[in-house]
Amino acid sequence: MRIRLDRWLAMLGLGSRSRVRERIRDGQISVEGQVIQDPALSFETETAALRVSGVPVDGRVTRHVMLYKPAGLLTAARDAKQPTVMDLLDPVYAGIGCMPVGRLDKDTTGLLLLTCDGELNHRLLAPGRHVDKRYRARVTGRLDAEDVRRFADGLELSDFRARPAELRILSAEEASSEAEVTVTEGKYHQVKRMFAAAGHEVTALHRCSFGPLELDPALSPGQWRELTAEELRSLRKAAGMEEA
Ligand code: URA
Repeated sequence: MRIRLDRWLAMLGLGSRSRVRERIRDGQISVEGQVIQDPALSFETETAALRVSGVPVDGRVTRHVMLYKPAGLLTAARDAKQPTVMDLLDPVYAGIGCMPVGRLDKDTTGLLLLTCDGELNHRLLAPGRHVDKRYRARVTGRLDAEDVRRFADGLELSDFRARPAELRILSAEEASSEAEVTVTEGKYHQVKRMFAAAGHEVTALHRCSFGPLELDPALSPGQWRELTAEELRSLRKAAGMEEA
């Protein structure tokens, strides 16, 4: 992406627009080894070698993150009152416009993707795209073959009929059961509402995968990392954005 130098530096959190202009005029900024003193010059943000006072700075403004969302945080870009998943990341990610892809409830844990690419974000969530999301759920009551069939048929909820979903029972006892469920939609409280329609309350919910991406087992709750080039390629493919 080509961006004016002063805007680029401000996005990276190097100061307000006026402060970064001062830094540029002071000769603190170099790009590709050359001191640049014109704030209006544009540069290729993903590849240009940026230094501030001689120190290399990661100038990429299109980044994609896999986060292990812990319970207790809102999935939102910002909130006036409550902490959000953005609080776990370096502030530069908010500056460059990294946003969660969809939402997990406050008490849901697991894989949350964040991206600066608005089109990718939009396409992954588009109702017609049907990207698989797999969850592990602990629910009240004993799950059985009838539940599997009801999920596969598509459960009737108050305002829509859920698309067919795969339910795989991991353990089933009278008081509680555990299962994996794969859904292709992402409506509000979708999984909890589907279980509720089948007579079970969800007591814990964890997202294991989103489209082609599995939560990295090396991540602990609250930890994150950027996607690899291969992961990004597969995600773009799932979003129908294959490279020509
Ligand atoms: N379905 C839910 O009910 N909650 C989530 O957080 C995700 C899917």
